[in-house]
Amino acid sequence: MKNILITGGAGFIGSHVIRLFVTKYPEYKIVNLDKLTYAGNLANLKDIEGEANYRFVKADICDFEKICEVLKEHAIDGIIHLAAESHVDRSIKDPFTFAKTNVLGTLSLLQAARMYWESQPEGYEGKRFYHISTDEVYGALQLTNPEGIESPFTTKASSSEHHHAYGTDFFTEETKYTPHSPYSASKAGSDHFVRAFHDTYGMPTIVTNCSNNYGPYQFPEKLIPLFINNIRHRKPLPVYGKGENVRDWLYVVDHARAIDTIFHKGKIADTYNIGGFNEWKNIDIIKVVIKTVDRLLGRKEGEDMDLITYVTDRPGHDARYAIDSRKLKEELGWEPSLQFEEGIEKTVRWYLEHQDWLDNVTSGDYLNYYEKMYSNR
Ligand code: NAD
Ligand code: TYD
Repeated sequence: MKNILITGGAGFIGSHVIRLFVTKYPEYKIVNLDKLTYAGNLANLKDIEGEANYRFVKADICDFEKICEVLKEHAIDGIIHLAAESHVDRSIKDPFTFAKTNVLGTLSLLQAARMYWESQPEGYEGKRFYHISTDEVYGALQLTNPEGIESPFTTKASSSEHHHAYGTDFFTEETKYTPHSPYSASKAGSDHFVRAFHDTYGMPTIVTNCSNNYGPYQFPEKLIPLFINNIRHRKPLPVYGKGENVRDWLYVVDHARAIDTIFHKGKIADTYNIGGFNEWKNIDIIKVVIKTVDRLLGRKEGEDMDLITYVTDRPGHDARYAIDSRKLKEELGWEPSLQFEEGIEKTVRWYLEHQDWLDNVTSGDYLNYYEKMYSNR
């Protein structure tokens, strides 16, 4: 495969995937297609935007005609689809936008790919449509062990401090879809369409479901970057409910590495779960973040604990996510590379050293980056 379309490449995970593919595969042409919503920021790709094998196209995945044109113009053989509305709290306020982008946008991309690939003499031979999804489609696991038990599995991403699991069950590739939020419902809908395009038209598709990502370039509406920024400015840290919900955290570069492995070696029509067996209660991870920020800013470690402010819980707040990613390890040999404490240290350092990036995205200045960069080309 030579010409690869990556959608949502100006967002958090997409920018890491673009960076990995552009630098690792100089022989590929990488086309980044992104609408540049509030979450898309071309400054995330500043270091690679001049590379010969990189192109940027500003477009909406819902714009079917435009997608058809882009696929043809760049003779696209492979698609890695990350573009989505991604924040649960926004989906609670505005579910329509989520249905539009995540369900109809994915359908528009699938239909455009189908029409283009079926018009080629070789058809679907050598083609691939890889859809990036989330563990949230599986719904919520119970917190059967709220104090935490020794996890039956560990990986390099697991914490060295605690090997906790907060229940005995995990999401596997066979777990029934039971989405609860408008976000996860829209992602579930898109996953079903992708599988339907394989089963109905024979399109070579793959779906992966990953756990919560953390790392550089995440928009500061999500827990970790929001809290790092608030601690820096000594603003309150809004903890939903009792802070006892559990998430399974993976460093974003390890997700990008998994995407690379699966795009090249994954079995067509298959599904892989991606995660690092690294479960944390929100309140515990918040305390680690506070201590790390305090230490790196030269404050007394833990002095900002009083910023913790318990607020009304998120409606329908899923209790626990925990991914079983053993299939990906056993079949394709992928394992996380970064241990959790190292990942958090790296992440906090990155945000503190890139205050300009944080200030730009919190002020909205980055929204003009596209005009500044591309207006005179
Ligand atoms: P993000 O919100 O940071 O980025 C989304 C990107 O998609 C942005 O660049 C935005 O401009 C673009 N986009 C949005 N609507 C578009 C449209 N209509 N047309 C074209 N581009 C559009 O999201 P993220 O956290 O990087 O997530 C990327 C993908 O990974 C999503 O599909 C998400 O569901 C999935 N995912 C995320 C996580 C996580 O923890 N962040 C975990 C598992 C899966
Ligand atoms: P988030 O980063 O929004 O990811 P997701 O909802 O997709 O898991 O939230 C992570 C966890 O942190 C989730 O349980 C909700 C909680 N949370 C807060 O307690 N306060 C906040 O301000 C945010 C943004 C999240």
